[in-house]
Amino acid sequence: MRRLCLASALVFMSVLAGCRASSPSKVERSVMGWTKHTVSVRNRSERNPLPPTANNIGSGKEAFSHYCVACHGMDGQNTGVPFAESMSPPVPSLNSSEVQSYTDGQLKWVIDNGIEPSGMPASKGILSDDEIWSMVLFIRHLPPAGSLGDPPMYSK
Ligand code: HEC
Repeated sequence: MRRLCLASALVFMSVLAGCRASSPSKVERSVMGWTKHTVSVRNRSERNPLPPTANNIGSGKEAFSHYCVACHGMDGQNTGVPFAESMSPPVPSLNSSEVQSYTDGQLKWVIDNGIEPSGMPASKGILSDDEIWSMVLFIRHLPPAGSLGDPPMYSK
C-alpha cells in the first residue's frame, strides 16, 4: 500500500513538473494587472502623511538607495539592472502608467507587503513607515531615466 502511494506521488510530481508554468502571456498579464489594481493591492484610500517637499523626496531617494536600487535602478526605471527583463514577471519601470496609477496608499501597501510570488520583497519591519512614505514621494517624483547612473553594486 505504502509503495503504491509513493509511486502515485512520484507520477503526480512528474506530471506537475511536465506542465511547469511558462512565462505569463500578454492576456494573463493584463488580467493579473487588473486584479492587482482592483482586488489584491489594498489600502487604496490611505493618504501619504508626508508633504512632497524637496527634503522629504530626498529622504525617499536615500531610503530607496538601500536595496530597492538592486532591482529598480537608482532612477526607479531599471537603468543598469542586468536581470530586470529576465525576472518573471519582469521588473516594471516605476514611472510606467501601470505603477503610477496606484494610489499612494496602494504603493505603501505594495512596499510593506511585497508581491508574492515575484521577487518584489516585503519591507515592513525593515524600513520605518516614514521611510516607506518618503519612498512613495520619490516614486511620484522620479528623475529622468538614466540621470543617476548605475546602481553601485553593478558598477566595477
Ligand atoms: C529582488 C528585486 C527587487 C527588489 C530588491 C525590490 N523590488 Fe520592487 N519589484 C520587483 C519586481 C520583480 C516587481 C514586479 C512585481 C509584479 O509585477 O508582480 C516589483 C514591483 C514594484 C512596484 C510596482 C508594483 C506593481 O504591482 O506593479 C513598486 C512600487 C516597487 N516594486 C517598489 C520597490 C521598492 C520601494 C523597493 C525597496 C524597498 C523594491 N521595490 C525592491 C523587484 C524588486
